[in-house]
Amino acid sequence: GAAGAAGLALGATGGALVHSAVSDSPAGAPGAAGAPGSLGATRVAFEGDHQAGITTPLQAKGHVLAFDLAPGAGRKEAAALMRRWSDTARRLMAGETAPTSDSGIALDAGPSSLTITFGFGHSFFERTDLVARRPAALDPLPDFSSDRLDAQRSNGDLWVQIGADDGLVAFHALRAVQKDAGEAARVRWQMNGFNRSPGATSTPMTARNLMGQVDGTGNPKPADPDFDRRIFVQGAGPGPAEHSWMAGGSYAVVRRIRMLLDDWDKRSLAQQEQVIGRTKATGAPLTGGGETTKPALDKLGPDGKPVIASNAHARISAPEQNGGAAMLRRPFSFHDGIAADGTPDAGLLFICWQADPLRGFVPVQRKLDRGDALSEFIRHESSGLYAVPPGPRSGEYVGQRLLE
Ligand code: HEM
Repeated sequence: GAAGAAGLALGATGGALVHSAVSDSPAGAPGAAGAPGSLGATRVAFEGDHQAGITTPLQAKGHVLAFDLAPGAGRKEAAALMRRWSDTARRLMAGETAPTSDSGIALDAGPSSLTITFGFGHSFFERTDLVARRPAALDPLPDFSSDRLDAQRSNGDLWVQIGADDGLVAFHALRAVQKDAGEAARVRWQMNGFNRSPGATSTPMTARNLMGQVDGTGNPKPADPDFDRRIFVQGAGPGPAEHSWMAGGSYAVVRRIRMLLDDWDKRSLAQQEQVIGRTKATGAPLTGGGETTKPALDKLGPDGKPVIASNAHARISAPEQNGGAAMLRRPFSFHDGIAADGTPDAGLLFICWQADPLRGFVPVQRKLDRGDALSEFIRHESSGLYAVPPGPRSGEYVGQRLLE
């Protein structure tokens, strides 16, 4: 899943984006570089209705990590940590140095579209004595038959997603976030990912994943009338008042999906295209047209069989096949070297966003689990579900409406 040509459009309308080509960092502040108009100068707003890093166009580098609160740390320590993290994110996303003991890793660079996004896992609410305010949407995901999950690399009390168009800027943010955790929380797991760098293609295009597919075409677009309702928790809705702190927030499902690339690469182009139901070269549906042409799911071939196979991934996952269930897929690819069996430890850090996982990821994954042609070539190795609070107001910290 990705936010591609579609994703770039996200930049134009996404609420949390400043997307300025103008560097408005304080003059002379170390790390405030990035000549106006340069990619490094691109700055994403920390404050807004929604946190950054959801509708922000895919960045070239990413780190996602989860923390567990330390033994003895509770609501007070969690609130102080969210305040530290928010101060850091506010500054680094503006191209400034970290509030305390900056590592210097990003000196000379502008913010390079840095985003730092924070979420809370199911266990966070026990640790902070806030179970009464935990939304049902955060209930653990069901088990799926094809799951091969590593508990050590799944879930966690707190989740942080970092994205930037520069590897040093992203790592700088990662170090700052790790240091801020201090005695309050410990890293539970961490994963590193990447996407295409801006400017790598002559014109902006939807990204490709490590199987070589154009990935992100079907994503909901911010201009869609139902985009907000699908992706963000609606304010003052019918839900209980204890959950109003999530209004404007979103739920992130995070899955480390290993790709069995050696098996995949042995298949012919025609076989690979059948697995998805789209061409590899352009991402157009096998029933014709261009990338954004709607697939003709009912169309039959000369042999009387559907041109887009009944188990094709793009058929099974389509919203119209799932009672309208939709999500915004915004992944990073990963490559962690070669596994013990000699195959690449590579795949997709699948991250999808929705207002309610039961109307997004869960029904679609249930269906994929029952008969997706892609299943043979992938393995879900870890899983997390996080409540990502709304964007902070001026001076506020992320999660303040829950924790204060
Ligand atoms: C569509 C690849 C896992 C949900 C697609 C497309 C590709 C793709 C190439 C077609 C282009 C597009 O619309 O983006 C992959 C790969 C996966 C993966 C390589 C694993 C490594 C998943 C998972 C889910 C999912 C786990 C959700 C449970 C979707 C959805 C669409 C889609 C909702 C769009 C369907 C539409 O709009 O008609 N995927 N996918 N995918 N995928 Fe996946």
